[in-house]
Amino acid sequence: MNQINRRNWLRTAGLSTGMLVFGSVDVFASNSEQIVSTDNGPILLNANENPYSPSNRMQQILTNNFDLTCRYPFRILSELVEAIAEKEGVSKDHIVVTGGSTEGLHAAGLIYGMHGGEIIAADPTFQSLLRYAENHGATVHRVPLNDNLEHDLKAMAQKINKKTSLIFVCNPNNPTGTIVDADALKDFCKSHDQQAVIFSDEAYYDFITEADYPSMIELVKEGRNVIVSKTFSKVYGLAGLRVGYLIAKPEIAKKLKASVMANTNVLAIKAAQEALKDDDFYKFSVAKNMEAKNLIYKTLDDLDLKYIPSHSNFVFFESGRPISQLNAAMKEENILIGRPFPPLDHWARISTGTMEDMQQFSIALKKVMS
Ligand SMILES: Cc1ncc(COP(=O)(O)O)c(C=O)c1O
Repeated sequence: MNQINRRNWLRTAGLSTGMLVFGSVDVFASNSEQIVSTDNGPILLNANENPYSPSNRMQQILTNNFDLTCRYPFRILSELVEAIAEKEGVSKDHIVVTGGSTEGLHAAGLIYGMHGGEIIAADPTFQSLLRYAENHGATVHRVPLNDNLEHDLKAMAQKINKKTSLIFVCNPNNPTGTIVDADALKDFCKSHDQQAVIFSDEAYYDFITEADYPSMIELVKEGRNVIVSKTFSKVYGLAGLRVGYLIAKPEIAKKLKASVMANTNVLAIKAAQEALKDDDFYKFSVAKNMEAKNLIYKTLDDLDLKYIPSHSNFVFFESGRPISQLNAAMKEENILIGRPFPPLDHWARISTGTMEDMQQFSIALKKVMS
């Protein structure tokens, strides 16, 4: 069955209700149309998105607030700031709401990269802050991941010099899905936050499988020079609406706020407020992501391919083939997978999809690798 027919068949057959029950929660029970966020195109396993569109509750919020789109967002923004501050246990002056966390990454890249600032980051890692900073004159020191493809904090510390303005730690790391040992990261921040601001990108924090793994917000609360970024794009499934936030002590937050350019919009603000309350969808996202990852692991085990158990919504594995070739071969199967992450050119990143997407992926990868 090709992709178009497969999706239409799913819809008409109303199969989604049965497939999407999470524990006693069936978030889509009253509308089986909301199974996936893409329609008729290729299977998208390339951008670490949440494959599930938000719940009916969220759709209702967007519809109910449609009339607000003639208003600027400033007034209602303070309500979201308040809700985030309460969730994170900080005062409102610690929060900077941004258009996706990308805008926050850019703001930090700009502030700390301008005027000859130097930035230290792992390699490979998420490039958004780094490239933006480089575009504004920063020097970025890229420190290879260790043999387990984890951040090498000791090697990163050795790169600190007088011009170092920011150290970027993507945790969990994109593209590897690894986390940094919590105590080691805290020690690192405490030892070096007087030399440079530490930026902890926690876009995938909600998918971490280690119990009680701390957010570096703990250190922000201690008054450390630490910035944490969070997003509504991943576990909450709102990537298309563009809303995220930064958390930092008020002096830093004020500087960041002054560098934010686009900000977010009224519907994104309303959606984010609702997302913070929609515990069912949150749990559903986490559970479905784990289910999808398990199917990816099984496929890779069947093929005897090496991979890194992931704390995120994607899995990084060693295909042994140039990523450009694998990409092209999977595209032929109507599946888009992650881009190249040099120097790991024989590795590939697969984002989680629906279980249906994962089954197609499994069949396609087995065919392509045979
Ligand atoms: C590590 C990391 N941080 C931040 C982002 C940006 O997400 P957004 O701008 O949608 O919040 C991404 C997107 O994939 C990411 O992988």
